[in-house]
Amino acid sequence: MKEVRIGLLGAGVVGTSLLQLLEKNREKIQNHYGINLQLTAIATRSPGKLQGKTNVPVTDDVLSVTNRSDIDMIVELIGGTDIAYKAVQSALENGKTVITANKALLSEKGRELYSISGKTGAELGYEAAVAGSIPIIRTLRDGLSSCEFEVICGILNGTTNFILTKMEQESWDYSTALKKAQDLGFAEADPTFDVEGIDAGHKISLLASLAFRDYVSFSSLSVKGISDLQSSDIQSALSLGYRIKLLGISKRSSAGVLTKVHPTLVPLDHPLANVMNESNAVFYKTKEADSGMITGKGAGGMPTASAVLSDIIYYSSRLGSSDIAKENNLFPEAKAFPEPDNLVRYYLRFSTVDKPGVLAEISKVLGRHNISIASVQQRESTSEPVSVIVLTHAATEGEFQKSLQEIDTMSAIIKQKTVAIRLLEKL
Ligand code: HSE
Repeated sequence: MKEVRIGLLGAGVVGTSLLQLLEKNREKIQNHYGINLQLTAIATRSPGKLQGKTNVPVTDDVLSVTNRSDIDMIVELIGGTDIAYKAVQSALENGKTVITANKALLSEKGRELYSISGKTGAELGYEAAVAGSIPIIRTLRDGLSSCEFEVICGILNGTTNFILTKMEQESWDYSTALKKAQDLGFAEADPTFDVEGIDAGHKISLLASLAFRDYVSFSSLSVKGISDLQSSDIQSALSLGYRIKLLGISKRSSAGVLTKVHPTLVPLDHPLANVMNESNAVFYKTKEADSGMITGKGAGGMPTASAVLSDIIYYSSRLGSSDIAKENNLFPEAKAFPEPDNLVRYYLRFSTVDKPGVLAEISKVLGRHNISIASVQQRESTSEPVSVIVLTHAATEGEFQKSLQEIDTMSAIIKQKTVAIRLLEKL
């Protein structure tokens, strides 16, 4: 039987779930795959917390594990880009396979790591880094490798999807929903990564690079999260037939690749609109296979650990095989499509005085920027400001930004900054 000796780095929510899964599945993996997984060492910030829970030696020195010659595979579940980077770099330089769930690390420092992996031949598996339990990385690498992608997008952050679901269905306020997501172990150590769209940005940059085989850097993305979203907009969108979701979107045309993260009004009959709670979904469109969507749990200890374990099994079976085809992950830089030229539709909520001529003033500016109105809604109110909600037809992003800047300076009629949320583009 093939023996694979594993060093585990990090014993937080995902790490402790992985310890349980390894124990539970040991025999099954031996019987089905002929692989004997031997957890050989663990490094964690607080070794005392594992006392009595494992017989494996525990240290707080990650490099003492990555430098051990009797370890074949390193599983990095530390998170962040500092210690985790040093650990993965050291492991790859030492020729060890690395399995990681660390999207920030790969999105921000992946090129350096892939270049070491290219030199030493050590493989890097990251199924758990994007969309938790959804097997999207190997689907892109293997199942859909014959396809030319036009679009890849999705709900890639469980915490924000959970918050949006609870704000809509339970009328929880934003902070209660965030606190619950943290308690359930969905959120990042720094939850601003979740709510400001950074985590989804890391993930869509990884998916886009893999789908298009063009490198999409995290720094090239425009990213907006959900922290200033109001319950009233979630309800208004619903009454208009849309549900607001935080989407990571990347699309490629002959003019280049455009990748971004923002809250989006998704029509209720689109499959992405019905992905709720901490579930994630990846929607794609290819020239050959048309469109499809994969959905599943996107956050939480066990769902994420299940993806880590599937990588451990997959890459264990490849360890030591001299004739396997190793993938080149150093893609050429993607040509960027300029966002101001992108055609979009918007939900606009103007906070205005309730006087004659206000709508005329607003529509004059929109009209001058070639923006056509698709619908207008104003609820009767006895107090000002009143909300005037406009859905537009498609116009360029650049013209929208210019018109909103202009409208927000019209202080005689506009009383608060206009809320502007994009509608799902034609994908
Ligand atoms: N904080 C992440 C999320 C965990 O909420 O989706 C999984 O990457």
